[in-house]
Amino acid sequence: MRELRVSRKAASFTESVIRDMTRLALKHGAINLAQGFPDFACPQELKDAAKAAIDADLNQYAITWGAQNFREAVAQKFERTYGVAVDPNTQLCVTCGSTEAMISAIMAIVDPGDEVIVFEPFYENYGPDAILSGAAPRYVTLHEPDWTFDEAELAAAFSQRTRGIILNTPNNPTGKVFSRAELEAIARLCVKWNVVAFTDEIYEHMTYEGQRHIPLVTLPGMEERTVAINALSKTYSVTGWRVGWTISSPELTGGIRKVHDFLTVGAAAPLQEAGVVAMGLPDSYYEMLAAEYLERRDLMLGILEGAGFKTYKPYGAYYIMTDISALGFDDDVAAARTLTADAGVASVPGSSFYSRPELGRTKLRFSFCKKLETLRAAGARLAALRR
Ligand SMILES: Cc1ncc(COP(=O)(O)O)c(C=O)c1O
Repeated sequence: MRELRVSRKAASFTESVIRDMTRLALKHGAINLAQGFPDFACPQELKDAAKAAIDADLNQYAITWGAQNFREAVAQKFERTYGVAVDPNTQLCVTCGSTEAMISAIMAIVDPGDEVIVFEPFYENYGPDAILSGAAPRYVTLHEPDWTFDEAELAAAFSQRTRGIILNTPNNPTGKVFSRAELEAIARLCVKWNVVAFTDEIYEHMTYEGQRHIPLVTLPGMEERTVAINALSKTYSVTGWRVGWTISSPELTGGIRKVHDFLTVGAAAPLQEAGVVAMGLPDSYYEMLAAEYLERRDLMLGILEGAGFKTYKPYGAYYIMTDISALGFDDDVAAARTLTADAGVASVPGSSFYSRPELGRTKLRFSFCKKLETLRAAGARLAALRR
């Protein structure tokens, strides 16, 4: 008899290490600086709008690719922010978070046997996203301390088999914000090889010290070949709402909408109504968001350095990559587990961000999307390490 087993695809990747660290943090009552979710409230206007939508009986399926008013609001905000017009009727697909946006887009555009270029260290979903689409991920390393790529190395990764490249800027886990020159190099190769760029821009509004997010779609030649991915999750501190979207050419959007429809039908209808309110928040909201995250970043950098970690200063997003060699750890997984169980602070082992685990063996990632008091409490626990 044929054995019962999971598919080769499912067997070829592991469970999320980040979500595993969250479970370990809960078990040990540790402060969770592993998974990137805020421990503070989202804007009151969003809560009010979500509750009002439920009370107004907006509780049935929205249009599968997104409520009309939410798509219009997302398109208007994108044009207001980046000066690029987006047609909400043909270029937008609302999804269950940026996670579903990424996998729907890759499944819609990439065929089995194709290759998808992924920068590493990476956000851990991208490899499985490519594999579930039947594609092979092809990794290009971002080198510390600035997390730059070697242009020749990137060029060598492109070939006739390359169908896509995944770009996450501002970047998780490194905090890197890709420069215009770097984006131009990527765009040149995408145009040369006729490759689609899947851009995860979920941290677009969290940039520090004068850095600015530049969407790849704004570069020459990239308009028809970029799928820009975003979500309410991080910018509005509602990671549990699961509302995201893709912006792409009408042709690519048509494919994404079909895959999305059969994967999930649609994102939560009342929360899309609250999303309309989110898209209408004034510029001051984003300025305040970045200023508050800058304060958290600086506090956390000080805490980690004081506790003996070598830090790589992030200029975007809300994570700090560290090096733990000086602390006497030579295995990141053991270090993360020990810190969670003994010190009571959860982080993410660096190896989970690399295709070759050895590249992350001396690294740990800490998130700082927490109240200042939570970060200070984590600081007190980490300081005890040195005593
Ligand atoms: C780079 C990146 N993309 C996507 C996600 C997940 O986004 P969402 O909650 O909208 O699915 C995260 C969450 O940590 C992330 O860091």
